[in-house]
Amino acid sequence: MIEATAPGKVILFGEHAVVYGRPALAAPVTQLRARAVVATGEGPDVRLIAPDLGRATTLAAARDTNPLAATVRLVESRAGRTLSPGVSLSVSSAIPIASGLGSGAAIAVAVIRALDAYFALGLSREEVSALAYETERLHHGTPSGIDNTVIAFEQPVYFVRQPPANHIETFCPARPLRLVIADTGVRSATKDVVGDVRRCWEADRARFEAIFDACGRLAEAGRAALAVGDLASVGCLMNDNHAQLVAMTVSSAALDRLAEAARAAGALGAKLSGAGRGGNLIALVEAESEAAVCAALLAAGAARLFRSDVG
Ligand code: PMV
Repeated sequence: MIEATAPGKVILFGEHAVVYGRPALAAPVTQLRARAVVATGEGPDVRLIAPDLGRATTLAAARDTNPLAATVRLVESRAGRTLSPGVSLSVSSAIPIASGLGSGAAIAVAVIRALDAYFALGLSREEVSALAYETERLHHGTPSGIDNTVIAFEQPVYFVRQPPANHIETFCPARPLRLVIADTGVRSATKDVVGDVRRCWEADRARFEAIFDACGRLAEAGRAALAVGDLASVGCLMNDNHAQLVAMTVSSAALDRLAEAARAAGALGAKLSGAGRGGNLIALVEAESEAAVCAALLAAGAARLFRSDVG
């Protein structure tokens, strides 16, 4: 039996604008993980099982629109070999689905890591990331590549989409970040939100280019503040990034309510993270303010909270 895992992720700065070539910063959420298990067995089929979702199928019967089957086929083609009959691939995840925490990319990376071990390919993290990017393209048409990168690298990254070779730098903040992640409980499909932003951009390019530029500047300033451990500035920049995401139309009343509650309870800053419209908010807290911020987020309607330390 082979088991592999991969973390969730948050975007610290620059979601959406990253699709349009602006810089962004993301960090893994190592406490929330997706898991893939490859087991050998008897029988004529390769089985794909997602026990949490109550789903099971065979690889032969699954279409390419099934992300699990697509991921398996990609790795099989990279390996030049196929999984033996009787093998089962089972996936599970503690990462909320469609909530901006990278659950799709994390499942893909966990599966690729497990199959990498099964076929003894010795894939580099860049190769794992590139394969996961291919499956990300099934989830939404124009992924920037930041999700598969931060999850495959499992380190904070500074990322600029620059096909064919993206600019990727890993970094470690000078002072660790203490994040509270608050789930609105509202699921939101990245593909739809990214598509809406594209329509808005097409309707008013000048306005949206200016918003994306502002997000890019905030990501650069955030990177500089993280490099010197200036967490107060990081928090202010997160608030500014949230305002740009509101202007981009991807926030929601629930996300804005959570952001205001976190700030009022002493968070250094708060912003939505991921595609928006639902999903998760991240709040930067200090040890002294953490309990009050958590209580305020729950009182403001957060469905659940997670904790994550970056660096
Ligand atoms: O898939 P999510 O919701 O974690 O968000 C991905 C971040 C976006 O910038 C909105 C899309 C992308 O491909 O970078």
